[in-house]
Amino acid sequence: MKSVGIDGISIWSGKLSLDLANVFAPSVGEDPEKYTKGLGLYTCSFPDVREDIVTMGANAAYKLMKNEGVDPRDIGRIDVATESSFDSSKPISTYISGCLEQVFGEEFRNVNKGERKFACIAGTQCIDDAHNWILSGRNEGKSALVIATDTALYERGNPGEATQGAGAVAMLIAEDPSIVELSLKQGYSSVDETDFLKPNQQFPSVDGKRSVQVYLSLMRDALTNFEERSKKMDIEEFQFVPFHVPFPGMVRKAASLGYRHMTRGTSIEEELEKIIGPKPEIEEFSEYEMYTGSIREYMKLLEKTEVYQKWYKRVIEPTIEISGKAGNWYTGSVHLARTSGLIYAVREKLDLVGKKILVGSYGSGAQAEIHTETIREGWDEKVKKIDIYDQLESRRPLSFEEYEQIHDVHNYSKETLLKELTDYKNEFAFKGYGKMGEHTYEFI
Ligand code: HMG
Repeated sequence: MKSVGIDGISIWSGKLSLDLANVFAPSVGEDPEKYTKGLGLYTCSFPDVREDIVTMGANAAYKLMKNEGVDPRDIGRIDVATESSFDSSKPISTYISGCLEQVFGEEFRNVNKGERKFACIAGTQCIDDAHNWILSGRNEGKSALVIATDTALYERGNPGEATQGAGAVAMLIAEDPSIVELSLKQGYSSVDETDFLKPNQQFPSVDGKRSVQVYLSLMRDALTNFEERSKKMDIEEFQFVPFHVPFPGMVRKAASLGYRHMTRGTSIEEELEKIIGPKPEIEEFSEYEMYTGSIREYMKLLEKTEVYQKWYKRVIEPTIEISGKAGNWYTGSVHLARTSGLIYAVREKLDLVGKKILVGSYGSGAQAEIHTETIREGWDEKVKKIDIYDQLESRRPLSFEEYEQIHDVHNYSKETLLKELTDYKNEFAFKGYGKMGEHTYEFI
């Protein structure tokens, strides 16, 4: 059986930033600690005037190809995951390949291109497609370029406005990979839900509170499905557990529920029982609300135990570091979480070869997916090339007035004449509209 997985990662952050605690919160009359302590968010990335899903995706892909020395002729497939597309027919992958052709001077003509849509889980699904394509042998030795790119913006005044972000993650999926190998086994949970959707509109309709509950319920169900299809897992066998991160506070909730689920019937559960008592069971309650209230209290106690906090600090905290500074990047978020853990491991000089990670993806509408990955020889040299922290540091901060104007630029139904706020160099930028309404781009 071939070994298939991620062989290169490159990231492009929107070039502007909004300070949520010090700029956004005071301007909308909210307590900054709701952002920092409640949601776990400090700043978010924002796209400049000439940035969009194409420029961010093309810039991430260009950087990946340069860093990894990829010859365009070695690419057999380009798949883009996005939920911010501006065209219902022409895929963003054709725009991105058109950009790449400007700099590589090589055509991506005999390459299979597509676009995947299933809210935030589409990035993981593109990796799946590439994985299957390589396993089947239809790749004939070539690799796939998977690009997750989004401008994750909400309508002004919507509670989701606190959790915005913009950026792209490009990944090279190849045989005999040097970062992680993907498991064959997967677990799914998928239902017809209306927690978050964009019915032909740029900004989502979202039932935020419900979306949190759907995320947790489907993630648990996908984990159970994964265990049924593979084996009961040992919580200690995973170096990191990167989840989809709409905001770090969401992962805090998912992590403790996942921990409780995976420690069931183990010596950790016995240890916990001695400290916080047994987990409440549904049969003990006459009303469902009383049961859920009791579970909430139990989870708060569990989260305070030393055994849990040690696990959380080692396995979860490293995966949410980037998101706390970058915000939600929709399709790219779970891939930012994996990268965040790996960059932390390089910094801490951890020896990870052969270690496992458990990945929890989620997309509204709704589906959760669980799989595992095994870290491969050479991972650290590849991860050292990812310069996301430098990018986050060099973003241009926005004042609240600038934020209001720039938000309108990315509302496709409005026309604005705002000038770009940053300099463009060695990168793709939006140029204007063509005669058929198409977007045009240039390399600057
Ligand atoms: P909200 O009503 O603005 O915030 O909505 P809140 O009042 O629920 O507060 C948030 C947290 O901060 C709470 O913590 C508060 O207690 C705490 P919790 O109780 O939940 O642990 N808090 C404070 N803490 C300290 N000091 C304070 C303070 N004030 C409050 N002063 C909501 C929050 C997430 C609903 C909103 O931001 C939203 O609608 N976001 C968009 C939807 C979303 O992100 N959903 C997540 C799950 S769905 C998903 O992940 C899919 C998605 O990525 C899309 C896709 O798949 O395509 C969104």
